[in-house]
Amino acid sequence: MTFSETDLLLAIETSCDDTCAAVLRGDRTVLSNVVARQDVHEEYIGVVPELASREHLRLLLPTVRRALDLAEVRLEDISAIAVTHGPGLIGCLLVGLAGAKGLAMSRGIPLVGVNHIEGHLSAILAEREWEAPFVGLVASGGHTELVHVPEWGRYELLGATRDDAAGEAFDKVAKMLGLGFPGGPVVDKLAANGNPSAFRYPRAWLDKDAPLDFSFSGLKTAVKYHVEKEGVLDGDMGRPEAQAFLADVCASFQAAVIDVLVGKIERACTLTGTKRILLSGGVACNRALREAASQLALRIGGEAAYPAPRLCADNAAMIGVVGLARLRAGESDGLDLPAVANLDDLTFGSRWVQPA
Ligand code: KG4
Ligand code: ZN
Repeated sequence: MTFSETDLLLAIETSCDDTCAAVLRGDRTVLSNVVARQDVHEEYIGVVPELASREHLRLLLPTVRRALDLAEVRLEDISAIAVTHGPGLIGCLLVGLAGAKGLAMSRGIPLVGVNHIEGHLSAILAEREWEAPFVGLVASGGHTELVHVPEWGRYELLGATRDDAAGEAFDKVAKMLGLGFPGGPVVDKLAANGNPSAFRYPRAWLDKDAPLDFSFSGLKTAVKYHVEKEGVLDGDMGRPEAQAFLADVCASFQAAVIDVLVGKIERACTLTGTKRILLSGGVACNRALREAASQLALRIGGEAAYPAPRLCADNAAMIGVVGLARLRAGESDGLDLPAVANLDDLTFGSRWVQPA
């Protein structure tokens, strides 16, 4: 089929702990973008995969219904369905995929699978134009990927984390500081009142063979030992001394993460001859990271962009944007489309390549 500018697409995203549905028009206008946040994970201070799958099962159809209602359209008006089929938590992906397949089959409309990382990189297109080539960083609770995008639809994976994802580091440090889950937003807020140079935490630049890969587990451990050794947070947290120490730890930890993320982006720009920088993923909501990326762009005479926070975090509009591009290129998938947990196992023809 040819997908016109007025045709409607329903997009579904369930790769982690947010149940998401969106309705987009063929011209990329977002008519609705609903995110049902699962709060069952808060008491465990981290995402519990089995609970997340069960919550998706409970929330998927009501979320789709809400997206249709907010867009003021009916399921019968939808011309195609886009769905995240990887990477992500396998049980979570399977729920979204089964729902999308059922809806596509019952309506006799095309189904199109979307790579979650490509979704994050494309989220910006849900609000504005953004031209390739660029260097994109996808940093979230499950991902830290540095990608060169020479043209839209072609992705060269330059580096990835070898242990914790950047958002996971924020979440784990917040947990050890007793700040709850998710940790990124609260660390971001506390860091604003702290001194980023108060403590010198390690930056993992890694060896020459993997100059653009990341590692955050050593940083997390360094913060843990430092906080335990100082013991300032052991007593009453209401003391000004404890609050000041907490703010300094948050600011110093955040500075270490940002130095590495932005340092590697700069290196990627040099290696690829690119001056355009795109941030996405939940960590791209971080104000100091956005500021540092803008400063870098200014320094190298380039441009930095980051979508609005609701488009940085997991959402279905970003999946819809990629779905539309694939549909308009005449691509779609069969009902045998598999869920794929790992990025390395996702093949999109020549769309994703590991650079030589
Ligand atoms: O993209 P996302 O909503 O979900 C996935 O993990 O895929 O990202 C959530 C992650 C969490 O680790 C959260 O702590 C982090 O993004 N995050 C932040 C901020 N807001 C969310 N990290 C740092 N600063 C923030 N302001
Ligand atoms: Zn994500």
